[in-house]
Amino acid sequence: MDMNVDAIRVEVIKPEIGAVLHVDRAALCEPAVAARIMELLELHDALIFPRLKLTDEEQVAFTGALGALVNFTHTAPGGSKANDVYEITLDKKKNPEPEYVLGTFFWHMDGTTINQPVPKASVLSCRKTSPKGGQTQFCNTYAAYEALPEDEKKALEGLRVMHSVVAAVREVAAPEDLEPFKRGAAHEQPLVWTRKNGRKSLMIGYSADYIVGWSKAEGRALLARLQEWAAQPRFCYSHEWQEGDLAIWDNGGALHRVIPYPADSGRTMHRTSIAGLEATS
Ligand code: OGA
Ligand code: MN
Repeated sequence: MDMNVDAIRVEVIKPEIGAVLHVDRAALCEPAVAARIMELLELHDALIFPRLKLTDEEQVAFTGALGALVNFTHTAPGGSKANDVYEITLDKKKNPEPEYVLGTFFWHMDGTTINQPVPKASVLSCRKTSPKGGQTQFCNTYAAYEALPEDEKKALEGLRVMHSVVAAVREVAAPEDLEPFKRGAAHEQPLVWTRKNGRKSLMIGYSADYIVGWSKAEGRALLARLQEWAAQPRFCYSHEWQEGDLAIWDNGGALHRVIPYPADSGRTMHRTSIAGLEATS
């Protein structure tokens, strides 16, 4: 096996989340390097590759080296089957239906509302920064679950949560515009997702609508409280982008959001996704 894995230099950002990886860009797609990056993702939840400056083709190749590339946004506004790179922009000329992108201002996981394994990881590269706002924040929902008091963990056992598009856009769309979204995708998830390897994370965020079988008030209050818990500074990292930076996060074990930025800022991000390996069931 190639020994290029030694070429990965790791700087831990915080004990509970985040590491900066310095990797020779020519070695990114080597199997041993890609495997090591996925191990580091498991350890640190969110990885930052400063100034990597990948082209779309290189980002697609890197994503495919880390796992199976998945395109779950081909039906979303601005998405297409032909292009596996999803452009995140509020520029009105490029994106006349901004709800999906405005939703990213709120803590969420990607791809929770469709009936397929949630993406294992999201890969986001910065093409143009915003002069104001635009920092992407990540919080570790494995660590947040793990740190809950034992009696609270017990109380969450077996709970199911409905994730839906309508819940996600409620944050950003006027009530009179919600009607078409009510026919959007919805999918039930476990509130606590236990992997085959025993790791557990919280399936929460803006698409989490209600706890199945609970009153709306009690269910939403629990979801809000868990989100506040997970978003404590100790579990969070906020990334100040530079053009060409690339971030990868464990989408099933992290929430993410972006600090609001002006629509005319030109901020542009390119996202690819790695297919989920395990169904949440
Ligand atoms: C995403 C997302 C946040 C950002 O690409 O899934 O939520 O910083 N992006 O643009
Ligand atoms: Mn997202």
